[in-house]
Amino acid sequence: MQPLAPDAFIVILTGAGISKESGLDTFRCEGGTWSKVRIEDVATPEGYRRNPILVQEFYNARREGLRDAEVQPNAAHLALARLEREWTGEVLLITQNIDDLHERAGSSNLIHMHGELLKIRCENCGQIHIWAEELSAQVPCPSCHIAGQLRPHIVWFGEIPLEMERIFDALGQCDLFVSIGTSGNVYPAAGFVEAVRYQGVGQTLELNLDPSERSSVFEENRLGLASVIVPEFVAEILR
Ligand code: APR
Repeated sequence: MQPLAPDAFIVILTGAGISKESGLDTFRCEGGTWSKVRIEDVATPEGYRRNPILVQEFYNARREGLRDAEVQPNAAHLALARLEREWTGEVLLITQNIDDLHERAGSSNLIHMHGELLKIRCENCGQIHIWAEELSAQVPCPSCHIAGQLRPHIVWFGEIPLEMERIFDALGQCDLFVSIGTSGNVYPAAGFVEAVRYQGVGQTLELNLDPSERSSVFEENRLGLASVIVPEFVAEILR
C-alpha cells in the first residue's frame, strides 16, 4: 500500500467476520446462520409475509444474543474507532452488519447499509424506533399506536440497502478502500471494490480470514484474524 496524504479520505467496509471474535455468528462460514435457517424464510419480504411470527422470533433471538454480556466490541472494532479519532482525514465506516459493536467501540461516522438489529420500523407510519426488546404483532407503534405493523429495521434480500447515494459518492472520492471480514457474496457491497478501482482513485485493500469471492480485484490482500490484522493496519496508517 502506498503512503497516504495526511488529508486522505479512507472508506472502510465491514462484514460479519469483524464481529465473529465478539461471539456473533457469520452467515456463510461453517456453522454460520445460513446453515441453520433459510434466507427465504427469515430474510426476505416474502418470508415475512408468509410467516411473520417466525421472522419476528428469529430477530428476537438475535436481539437477545446481542444483549449477552459476553458480546463486546473486539480489538478490530476498537482499532477502527481509534482510526476515526486519530486519522487527520475523514474515515467513513460502512457496515453490512446489523449489530451495534462499531458504535459501542466508539465509531460514529458510520452507515449501516443493511439496517440495524436494535431498530424497528412501522409499516403504517414509517417511523423508526430504537428497540432492544422482543417484538411481536401485539406491540403498538410508539408513534401511530397501530399494532401489527412493526418490523425489524433491517434490509432483506430484494430490498434496497440504505444510503446508497452517499456510499457511491464516497467510493468515487476515497483515497483508500478497505474491506474487512466479508465474503464478497452479496451485492451491492461485493461490488464496491470495482466502484473504487474503475470509477474512483483510491487504493484497495482486503483484510479477511480467508480469500473472499472478490479477493482478486483488490490490489492488496492480507489474511488473518480481524482482531490481529486490523489493529496492525491501523497502527501502520497512524505511524
Ligand atoms: N477475522 C476476519 N475475517 C473473518 C473472521 C475473523 N475472525 N471470521 C470469519 N471471517 C471472514 C470469513 O472468511 C468470511 O469471508 O468473514 C467473512 C464472513 O462472510 P459472510 O458470513 O458471508 O458474511 P458477510 O460477508 O458479512 O455477509 C454479507 O450477507 O446474508 C447477508 O445481510 C447479510 O450482511 C450480510 C451479507
